[in-house]
Amino acid sequence: KKIAILASGSGSNAEKIIEYFQNSEKAQIVLVASNKKDAYVLERAKKFSVPTFIFNRSDLEDGLLTKMLSSLEVDFVVLAGFLLKIPQGLIKAFPERIVNIHPALLPKYGGKGMYGMHVHQAVKDASDSETGITIHLVNENYDEGKVIFQAGVEVLETDTPEDIANKVHALEHKYFPNVIESLL
Ligand code: GRF
Repeated sequence: KKIAILASGSGSNAEKIIEYFQNSEKAQIVLVASNKKDAYVLERAKKFSVPTFIFNRSDLEDGLLTKMLSSLEVDFVVLAGFLLKIPQGLIKAFPERIVNIHPALLPKYGGKGMYGMHVHQAVKDASDSETGITIHLVNENYDEGKVIFQAGVEVLETDTPEDIANKVHALEHKYFPNVIESLL
């Protein structure tokens, strides 16, 4: 199977996924695509000789990315810290084959504006004693597709939003590659 990763930022999850499938017979990462030309994820991909592609919002909305993924015969699309809304055309081209990771236990702390540190700050502000990760299929609405996997972690009263982010990242790195493999 051929996997493409879309990412807008640092790409620590992307790197774990690339590493995980490096010598796999089940799947290869054929592309890392980003809407940010300076995203560190592009450096990480290059380090592993994974092809990269940079696109902008209108390329996404006009279907250029969908064409690119189809021409590469991509089977599965992984969103790993990808911040643009996925257009209908892309969802239709990959039904039930786009997976996202969200750094909270959805349905808590999902939806527009809830990404990155905003999520961990909200968990802190609510004094929640637990947070976690949600891996879900992507549909038309932000963070509302079918949930595939969740894992939780304890939040201490003394944890800063940065501490929470670190705990959540550790969970993501531990589980995301395996869960992707199970979906293929
Ligand atoms: C992760 O926390 C993920 O849940 C969210 O964006 C973050 C990406 O982190 N959607 P990284 O770029 O993989 O380090």
